[in-house]
Amino acid sequence: MFITQYLAEEHRRCDRFYADAEKAVSEGKWEEAEKAFGLFKEKTLLHFRKEEEVLFPEFESRTGITMGPTQVMRFEHQQMRELLGKLEEALKSRNREEFLSAGESLMVLLQQHNMKEEQILYPMADQHLEREEVVEKMESLGEV
Ligand SMILES: [Fe+2]
Ligand SMILES: [Fe+2]
Repeated sequence: MFITQYLAEEHRRCDRFYADAEKAVSEGKWEEAEKAFGLFKEKTLLHFRKEEEVLFPEFESRTGITMGPTQVMRFEHQQMRELLGKLEEALKSRNREEFLSAGESLMVLLQQHNMKEEQILYPMADQHLEREEVVEKMESLGEV
């Protein structure tokens, strides 16, 4: 299994969870929205953990590149964690406009982030790391 394939599939799954939440919010189905958003948040944070606790450290120790792409990715994860908090607030207060607008900001950031990972970071990781071993370690953290 390639790291690129494994993690890109997680990106796709998270996209679908968000789409479910957005649809429910648009339709004013708040309970459904809470469930879908809860799933999106949980899985997105787990995906970030796999990258931060397994992939990035492995990448840095194997390539010696510590101030490059992994630092940018960590910073963007932090920005997205803040936006997730905003979305959760909007959901709690049943504020559709705020949810959809913060959601749009998050999606723009997330799509650009995922594209950089899928086109640059993951292929480099597949090239330089013991990919089977890295995938196994990430898998042991749970399923997205
Ligand atoms: Fe990431
Ligand atoms: Fe990612």
